[in-house]
Amino acid sequence: MERTFILLKPDCVERRLVGRILSRFEDKGLNLVAMKLLKVTPDLAKKHYAEHLEKPFYPALEEFITGAPVVAAIVEGLQAIEVVRGMLGPTSGLKAPSGTIRGDFSSSRQMNLVHASDGPEAAAREIPLYFSNDEIVEHTPTIGPWLKASDED
Ligand code: CMP
Repeated sequence: MERTFILLKPDCVERRLVGRILSRFEDKGLNLVAMKLLKVTPDLAKKHYAEHLEKPFYPALEEFITGAPVVAAIVEGLQAIEVVRGMLGPTSGLKAPSGTIRGDFSSSRQMNLVHASDGPEAAAREIPLYFSNDEIVEHTPTIGPWLKASDED
């Protein structure tokens, strides 16, 4: 099982899409192990988006991501990082195909509704930015045997 970090961004919360988008991850069979509503501070934004700090769009990105509450979550599942990235689609909602979250709900490059870790190193860095260990709830869903065969890993 792999864990990935998901951030439902301010546009997602403000547009009242949190429930519908969380449902997509639940429908896929991913297991929710942590979740909270918070406001991203400028300091947290700089840590989260450290690789974009020098990019011309960073000031607008920080204003956007700190502008309203977000929902942070950790989900786990087989190949969860790749699976979730595929569910989001490419960065721009204008380029994302229908059937992906961004393709179905976003028409913007910046306001693309959801962030998810783009690899194992990003997940390992992003999860502790938002969650302490005691906020992660380990549990084995009883539905597990109906989501995959026992030899799939
Ligand atoms: P995300 O997957 O969270 O990673 C970085 C974010 O920066 C991205 O989603 C967008 O919200 C935003 N972003 C990426 N490229 C641009 C851009 N060219 N202009 C404005 N915002 C961008």
